[in-house]
Parts: sequence; structure tokens; C-alpha cells
Amino acid sequence: MLKVLLASRNAGKLREFSALLPEVQFVLWPTHAPELPETGAFFQDNALQKVEGARAWWLEHGTEPVDGVLADDSGLCVDALWGGPGVLSARFAPDLANYTDRNRRLLAMLPEGASRSARFVCILAFAPTAGRMQGQPFTVSGTVEGTLALDHRGDGGFGYDPIFIPDGYAQTFGELPAGTKHSLSHRARACAALRERLAAVIR
Ligand code: IMP
Repeated sequence: MLKVLLASRNAGKLREFSALLPEVQFVLWPTHAPELPETGAFFQDNALQKVEGARAWWLEHGTEPVDGVLADDSGLCVDALWGGPGVLSARFAPDLANYTDRNRRLLAMLPEGASRSARFVCILAFAPTAGRMQGQPFTVSGTVEGTLALDHRGDGGFGYDPIFIPDGYAQTFGELPAGTKHSLSHRARACAALRERLAAVIR
């Protein structure tokens, strides 16, 4: 079984990775480890920045050997907001205490009559650390297209899930069963691409 350090403390992401990659044993980013900087302008820059930061820290301070490090940079891109909040999704409306309020603020920012089209984007960066694997960090990506609901709907998932209706459905990711999200989400698609790449690099 592949042992992988997950460079994130986001509980929602963690739950999803465990379901999406059951063949991987995840080691969690320790609570005493530093916050990983994400100062790039693009998802890809941030994913690579996080994976490289986490790998360097783990090589010095890690408590057990791992085969690699995985970082996820993801977010919601809304066409009527010029792609925002995008890479700033985790930092949108920091004055608000919860995602119900953040989601309502985001919906209120849409100009009247504007397109409600949006997409979730996920870039995964994987950095090998052990002899079983070789090579440089690499990235894979996944997206899911959809539209924004008129209000926050459903308690499932995390973050912006309750306002995102994936194409082909009438419910938000907050209302749909987790299994449905896992069959078509941006993270599911990126994980499928990662599985293919890992199969090629594991020797
Ligand atoms: P980061 O990748 O840690 O910078 O943050 C990603 C942010 O994007 C999360 O904190 C959520 O707000 C949002 N996000 C990413 N993926 C999802 C998802 O699957 N559902 C809902 N929100 C998401």
C-alpha cells in the first residue's frame, strides 16, 4: 500500500481523499507543522509550492517514511466574478465565521441577470520521496462545470458545495449524496488522473 503525506489540514479534503483513493494510506499533516505558504497567482503554482514545502519539512522533521507527498490547491471559479474567488477561495470573506454566510455573500456579489456559470477546479501536486518512486514533482488536474444556486442548499460536503449545482443535476453538491459528488467532482477527476500517473511511476 502506498503511504502518502497529505499536505493539508482541511477536514473536507481529507474525508474526500480517503474515499477517492482507498488504496492509499494517508499520513496527516501534523498540527505542530507550519502553515504551508500559497502565494501564487495560479492553482498550479500553489499546489507545487505546498507540495515542495511539505516535502522539505517532512524530510527534516517527519516521524515515519512515506512514499510521497500530496498537495491539493482548489477552488470555485465564477464567470461573472472574472473567475473569482478562484485561488483565493479559502480566503474569501475572512470576516465571516462560516460558509453559510460566505456563500450568501458570494451569491449577493453576482450582478443582476449575470450568468451563473461556474466551475470547481482542483490541481493535485505529487512529490515522490522514496526509492520505490522516482522523479520530480508533477501535477494533474480536474474540473467540474456547473451553475450557482439562488441560495445555500444542503449540508453535505464542505465549503462552496451548498451553492454549486453540477451540470446534469438539479441539486447542489450540498444536497447530493457524497457518492454522487465523488463520481464527478473536480477532485475525483484529478484523483483518477493521479492514479494513472502513479501506476506509471511506481516501480
Ligand atoms: P486551498 O486549496 O486550501 O487554497 O482552499 C480551497 C478552498 O476552495 C476550500 O477551502 C473551499 O473553500 C474551496 N473548495 C475547494 N474544493 C471544494 C469542494 O470540493 N467543495 C467546496 N468547496 C471547495
